[in-house]
Amino acid sequence: MLALVHTTDQKSRNLILIGFMGTGKTTIGKRVASSLGFRFVDTDARITKAAGKPITKIFEEDGEEAFRALETKILQACAEQSDQVISTGGGIVTQPKNREILARAGFVIWLKASPETIYERIRHNRSRPLLKTTDPQATIRDLLAERSDLYDASKNLAVTTDGLTLEETCFGVTESARVALGMI
Ligand code: S3P
Repeated sequence: MLALVHTTDQKSRNLILIGFMGTGKTTIGKRVASSLGFRFVDTDARITKAAGKPITKIFEEDGEEAFRALETKILQACAEQSDQVISTGGGIVTQPKNREILARAGFVIWLKASPETIYERIRHNRSRPLLKTTDPQATIRDLLAERSDLYDASKNLAVTTDGLTLEETCFGVTESARVALGMI
């Protein structure tokens, strides 16, 4: 789906990308940031830097709860700046505090993809601790079912990326953000 959306809410001038693992938040976020002339920020990269170790290690050594606490701290710090595209981890919407922060942090786009598309995109990547299960396809379906309402409640606009090229998605996201953030 391609949509151009206008919002009159007063929020920080940021574009925030939410969505499940493997929906292209980082790839799309970098390109869109460059088109908008915004800084690109990735909460997972900030978490890795702050912890001094990769996300798999944080989960293994400190547990998911510690990861989530760090994620909230980083999101809060990002939300205090503006003129950024913020790519978030797929589980950001699971924490009520994060949903509150997102509501004030800027224009929120939910990048959607089907479980099949997601599986194809992530199957060769082993950096996601939550998908190291005996049946990653079932895990994707279950987690997506659990989280869909949360993504939906947190978003200002949803963009379904199945069937769109990267260029089409980036165009829709960039132009929607320009309108929503009052840049045109
Ligand atoms: C997670 C998604 C990951 C990362 C962590 C947990 C999740 O980010 O934050 O592995 O709970 O869905 P990506 O969505 O960038 O893969």
